Amino acid sequence: MPVNIAIDGPVGAGKSSVSDAVAKRLNILHLDTGAMYRAFGLAMLRMGVDPMDEQAVTQHISDVNVSVRYEDGMQHTYLGTEDVTGLIRTGEVSAAASSASSWPAVRRAMVAAQKRMAAEADMLIDGRDIGTVVLDKSPAKIYLTASPEVRARRRYEQNLAAGDTTSYQEVLDALNQRDLQDMTRATDPLRQAEDAVLLDTSNMSFDESVEAILQIVERVYGKQ
Ligand code: DC
Repeated sequence: MPVNIAIDGPVGAGKSSVSDAVAKRLNILHLDTGAMYRAFGLAMLRMGVDPMDEQAVTQHISDVNVSVRYEDGMQHTYLGTEDVTGLIRTGEVSAAASSASSWPAVRRAMVAAQKRMAAEADMLIDGRDIGTVVLDKSPAKIYLTASPEVRARRRYEQNLAAGDTTSYQEVLDALNQRDLQDMTRATDPLRQAEDAVLLDTSNMSFDESVEAILQIVERVYGKQ
């Protein structure tokens, strides 16, 4: 049976870093789908297209080629032939990705690419619609969350370590704004799949979160 693990959750739940660690322990690839929407959002910003304008965004989809390659097991996200992995973590790109990802045509293109990748390799995929759409048949689904204050605090501390001095309140406001947009969009909004296991990491350490997910995976697939 191919190993397909779906992890969804709101902004700052730790999906990317926890998913990376779990995938490494299982020796499978980790696909961060948010990076694909971020690369698309970056393309819109560069082209001067308003990510909130559905018609304009939809018109430009065929001009944008987002792809993912693995180098030493690490995901690199490309726009055409340019590796944009290091350019997509800014606040501006986060907001553009959240807006552009609300449009059905954008989602169709990204979901099709993600399903193709999942069919080719054992994978852990994280995002917003993985358990509900991309890997809707996966037997291992996790909804990873934590309180907004805990998520904002973690993000704020990560930012500080990277030299970004945005205040805690601004981080919390941006996080709430993006969650609202991701959870209320008409097409495939963020929600917990009915058969997903809820994991609230508000009072868990990083290592405890990783172990909890490994236990869920082991219940489904046996010891890997
Ligand atoms: O996971 P992230 O914060 O890097 O994702 C950036 C944005 O992309 C997020 O605000 C919503 C969108 N997204 C999505 O709509 N569906 C996914 N599977 C992953 C991300």
